Amino acid sequence: MRIARRIEEISPSATMVMKLKADELKAAGQDVLSFAVGEPDFQTPDSIIEAAKRAMDEGQTKYTAPTGTVELRQAICDAAKRYLSLDYSPSQVLVSNGAKHTLMNLAMALVQPGDEVIVISPYWVTYPDQISVCGGRPVVVETRDEDDFQPDLEEVERAVTDYTVAIVLNSPCNPTGAVYAREVVEGLAEIAIAHDLVVISDEIYKDIIFDDNEHISPAALDGMQERTVIVDGVAKSYAMTGWRIGWMLGPEEIVAAAAKLQSQSTSCPNTIAQAATIQALTGPQESVGEMREQFERRRDFVVERLSEVPGVTCSTPHGTFYAFPNISEHSRRLFPQVEEKRSEQMALWLLERSLISLVPGCAFGADDYVRLSFAASMDQLEEGLSRFAAAFE
Ligand SMILES: Cc1ncc(COP(=O)(O)O)c(C=O)c1O
Repeated sequence: MRIARRIEEISPSATMVMKLKADELKAAGQDVLSFAVGEPDFQTPDSIIEAAKRAMDEGQTKYTAPTGTVELRQAICDAAKRYLSLDYSPSQVLVSNGAKHTLMNLAMALVQPGDEVIVISPYWVTYPDQISVCGGRPVVVETRDEDDFQPDLEEVERAVTDYTVAIVLNSPCNPTGAVYAREVVEGLAEIAIAHDLVVISDEIYKDIIFDDNEHISPAALDGMQERTVIVDGVAKSYAMTGWRIGWMLGPEEIVAAAAKLQSQSTSCPNTIAQAATIQALTGPQESVGEMREQFERRRDFVVERLSEVPGVTCSTPHGTFYAFPNISEHSRRLFPQVEEKRSEQMALWLLERSLISLVPGCAFGADDYVRLSFAASMDQLEEGLSRFAAAFE
């Protein structure tokens, strides 16, 4: 049987692969602690669940407009007005089945074979594959932990060619937890304007920021609203990963192109989840702050414990719920014969030996690291980090 060649261009999501392996061990009765998957461990707030039930009782069980209901798109515009002071209209919003779907729609709408898209590494696993499946070439610009994983503007500028059509930004960043400084976002915006690039700004972790860091959206900078597509959703801020609602907010032309595609691929996002999302965006916001505070406490604990492990370093994540420790001293010692994907060997070794599940850094383009999600209870984190430390004794 012939499978289309474009599928060869991509690999299955690494976070999901580790989850499956951990599930296998769990099914065999092993006490595996999973810090691999990127979802809040909190329950979706009650008021949101109630809104979904109400929607069903009221008969909101049919298709909606392919772009999402006007009420939801208006609620998204109102939220953007509150946190960015920017005006958007519902025709500039496309609601999809999660932010991952939004990003796929965008790649399909913007990237042609031969186009290049700049991706900052360590990057969220999905960006390069989505670009590749559209025939584009992800051009990776690395960041380093000694720079707090902030992009070097000169390196970004050097990566631009005549084929570059867009740049993907993700602040706060999964997996590093970096929150881009204002001057960095301003510098990136200058590059985008100078080279006429679209900026895809994945802001799904914008509500999970620690200390006195602030979220700077490129869309809010002078001359940038018309070339920035904000990608956001309810998964992380409202503990709604399974509801599958995400959206893009940006120039009407791009939104209309992606909407045309969506109308032929999935008709519309889930109607009941759309009603719940209206409640999430317009209802009480206390739970967002409470979750953020818990993540910050866990972040402090995790970074302290990781930094105590000899041979491991961990820069402080300023947002998200991930720590990204550098384990290269140990992975080089333990797997000297392995040339690439040492972090994968390391993650498998930790899973089999210590029954803790982490994601190998190679999935994010950074083989010296592993990613640990601290969206887990303090008890689990204490036990997991004791196992992690013991493994290297
Ligand atoms: C950086 C980033 N963007 C997008 C997504 C996708 O979110 P959703 O669950 O809404 O598809 C994730 C999920 O892990 C993510 O980490």
